[in-house]
Amino acid sequence: TGMFTFDPGFTSTASCNSTITYIDGDQGILLHRGYPIQQLAEKSDFLEVCYLLLNGELPTAGQKTKFESDITHHTMVNEQLKSFFNGFRRDSHPMAVLVGVVGALSAFYHDSTDINDPYQRMIASYRLIAKMPTIAAMAYKYSVGQPFVYPRNDLGYAENFLYMTFGVPQCEPWKANPVLSRAMDRILILHADHEQNASTSTVRLAGSSGANPFACIAAGIASLWGPAHGGANEACLRMLEEIGTPDRIPEFIARAKDPKDSFRLMGFGHRVYKNFDPRATVMRQTAHEVLEELGAKDSPLFQVAMQLEKIALEDEYFISKKLYPNVDFYSGIILSAMGFPTSLFTAIFALARTVGWIAQWGEMIEDPTQKIGRPRQLYSGDTSRDFQSIDKRS
Ligand code: CMC
Repeated sequence: TGMFTFDPGFTSTASCNSTITYIDGDQGILLHRGYPIQQLAEKSDFLEVCYLLLNGELPTAGQKTKFESDITHHTMVNEQLKSFFNGFRRDSHPMAVLVGVVGALSAFYHDSTDINDPYQRMIASYRLIAKMPTIAAMAYKYSVGQPFVYPRNDLGYAENFLYMTFGVPQCEPWKANPVLSRAMDRILILHADHEQNASTSTVRLAGSSGANPFACIAAGIASLWGPAHGGANEACLRMLEEIGTPDRIPEFIARAKDPKDSFRLMGFGHRVYKNFDPRATVMRQTAHEVLEELGAKDSPLFQVAMQLEKIALEDEYFISKKLYPNVDFYSGIILSAMGFPTSLFTAIFALARTVGWIAQWGEMIEDPTQKIGRPRQLYSGDTSRDFQSIDKRS
């Protein structure tokens, strides 16, 4: 009869059962399979967190070695996939490239598009986790006109991504800075999953129709791109650059507070965390470590960021609306200091979130209560009326 619960933005709708991630936004708690994010960020590493998200338990030493070798086994992409890059303009946004190239994986790995076979679902997960750094780094190399750097399977996951992005072919040995590799790994851990956010819900909704995992992840990447979601790290850095010097901060704070101005301080606020974002606390610490290591603490960008953080935390408007710096406020600062171009930030978020997306997708496929996602609407258009021939229309 058209009587449905109206919940725009799904602020009070649980769309699924899940055992992967728990968030208490009021208390600032984030757990993956029960483990607090702070402990995972401090004591674990990204591939171990991937294993945990996919399998529900931390790996034993043997399981960890096997998982690492399974993932590295899939780091290369089909050589033919390189020609997809050439079809893009050099100044294409990396997220546009990522949506296209990841979607195209469906056309290469036919065996793992069989979603009813648990083994093939696992292989699809491995392929996606393993190939995302390769594809994201290729998008970067293509944008600057440099040759692609093939993956090196003797390097760790985060290190290998840094190598493929900043490395020079045929120029070995390549040495990673351990502080930067660790920071990269942490950024990946902190972005690995975050329950039913817009992109994860998109992956589930796309997957609920039986679409193949590569297509579903491409849909997730598209959803992540927006500035209210994963695009915030890029938007935040562009805002810091626009502010330029600390003396201009009050002007931007005033704009953020002005109800007539749609401007928002990027990197502040969160739909679920109305206290602080526990990921932001870890990321803040890492930002200080990286900037220290690179001797960049005096850079105008970092100065603006630190001043902005201070002023926003003391300002009545931000306090009353519970707007705290979020994870992307700090990750953008770190990535920028490490030398990543701003346009690549969201692609890095996508590569980190791929494991969360695919773990959630796999959980959904195995859930016997799962149905095709099909929300209804409150219709507010015209009621039934008769067709008018064109000469009678005004
Ligand atoms: N700057 C200034 N005012 C803000 C901001 C901000 N960043 N965020 C929210 N507000 C105000 C907003 O104007 C509104 O005021 P009022 O009640 O007077 O209308 C109030 O706070 C509540 O905002 P909302 O849009 O209803 O809150 P939401 O839960 O729908 O939005 C958000 C959450 C993250 C989209 C929003 O805070 C925002 O746009 N932040 C900036 C973008 C950003 O950093 N996004 C990254 C989120 S973390 C990474 C991820 O998971 O993707």
